Amino acid sequence: MRTLLACTSCGQQLAQWAGRCPGCGAWGTIQERSGGTGASKVALQTLEHDGGVERRVPTGFAGIDRVLGGGLVPASVTLLAGEPGIGKSTLLLQLVANLSAAGLSCLLASGEESRAQVAARARRLGVAGDAVAFISGRELGTVVDAAGSSEPFLLAVDSIQALRDPDAGQVPGGPAQVRSCTDALVGLAKAKGIAVLLTGHVTKDGDLAGPRTLEHAVDVVLTFDGDPRSGLRMLTGGKNRFGAEGEVAWFEMTGAGLAEIDPTGLLLSGDGEPGAATALPQAGRRALAVEIQALVAPTDGPARRQVTGLDGRRFQLVAAVLDRAGIRLGRSDLFGASCGGVRVDDPACDLAVAAALASAATGVPTPSWTAFVGEVGLTGLVRSAPGMGQRLAAARAAGIRSVYGPSGGDASGLRIRPVRHVRDALTWASRGGGDRPT
Ligand code: TYD
Ligand code: MG
Repeated sequence: MRTLLACTSCGQQLAQWAGRCPGCGAWGTIQERSGGTGASKVALQTLEHDGGVERRVPTGFAGIDRVLGGGLVPASVTLLAGEPGIGKSTLLLQLVANLSAAGLSCLLASGEESRAQVAARARRLGVAGDAVAFISGRELGTVVDAAGSSEPFLLAVDSIQALRDPDAGQVPGGPAQVRSCTDALVGLAKAKGIAVLLTGHVTKDGDLAGPRTLEHAVDVVLTFDGDPRSGLRMLTGGKNRFGAEGEVAWFEMTGAGLAEIDPTGLLLSGDGEPGAATALPQAGRRALAVEIQALVAPTDGPARRQVTGLDGRRFQLVAAVLDRAGIRLGRSDLFGASCGGVRVDDPACDLAVAAALASAATGVPTPSWTAFVGEVGLTGLVRSAPGMGQRLAAARAAGIRSVYGPSGGDASGLRIRPVRHVRDALTWASRGGGDRPT
């Protein structure tokens, strides 16, 4: 039987694979079809496992493999989303370098930077430039055709917003452009078995303006964040068709690129200043001790609430509950942040947010070597938190001695101070002092 190529959209038959159907103009719709008798029959498939999805290719970063669910899956499309300057291009180039070094062919399409700029970065990272195939990543057609004919293991695109489909109209980087280019690359990945890795910019307040519209089209979404001024970076797995959501890997941006690190204890300043409290958020299959910081500044104007790394709505809710519990915050600007700017949106961090705000408002430091765990409800009652075992293990690893929070989990080596209402976790704020090390 002869193998034919045909457009899945209009049925146009082709002798040679193309990124775009010459019949209807659709991108990524040309696929193999067996037959040749004219009256084409659709060959039905079964769901029997063919093992295809099981192949995982190590990326050279143990943490990234874990976040991906075991490694890169061939023919999958992964979005690496993050703010400008966070290190997406750096990570992409390091991944390409690792895979190339493992003997897998990679094609890097950059519309963000010129070949000379990428080459300079490669030199800085100690990547052998001749191992990486490069094309400009501005024209969708060029990228799809180049990848379609060279069939690399990985096509890395930096960024999806810099790519342009002349037929999709609208502004470059706009939703219609981003959708159209993504659809084309998804079609390419599936038709040619190429793993595609796209970077996508998100805006400062975490809004995935462009990329959000393409999240459903890709197989895996990875979010890269941290405070660009600090070296610490966190890679979190979001949607993942091949693995668990929420797994996390930690990196430090060094002079020679991104290096994987163990974050235990790194996210605590431990300086005993008022306005800081330790939370124990879950991060993937583990938990981590992270300092939450708050600042309360009286104002005559409209009161602002501003957060970095924290969930803005939960922050406001906790502030309102505290206000009702007698810690006056209403006429003040409130600022909240997580140490290193790492994203902390676990509701069980509410109690630490409350403690940091209460400490900032009263000027009394939270007791040292103490952590706070629990979700605060509108009434001020503190709900229990899942994964107490992991949280307490993280507390022990970071040298914490006592934990305000609901009971549960192995508390050995820790003093648990049971909390029912948010007030129960703030007794130190009126007294001062606490578990100061002797
Ligand atoms: P970049 O990867 O360009 O970020 P993005 O693609 O997300 O916009 O890198 C961001 C910053 O990282 C840049 O300001 C310079 C810095 N950097 C280092 O500190 N060390 C390095 O080795 C490299 C390559 C970059
Ligand atoms: Mg970049």
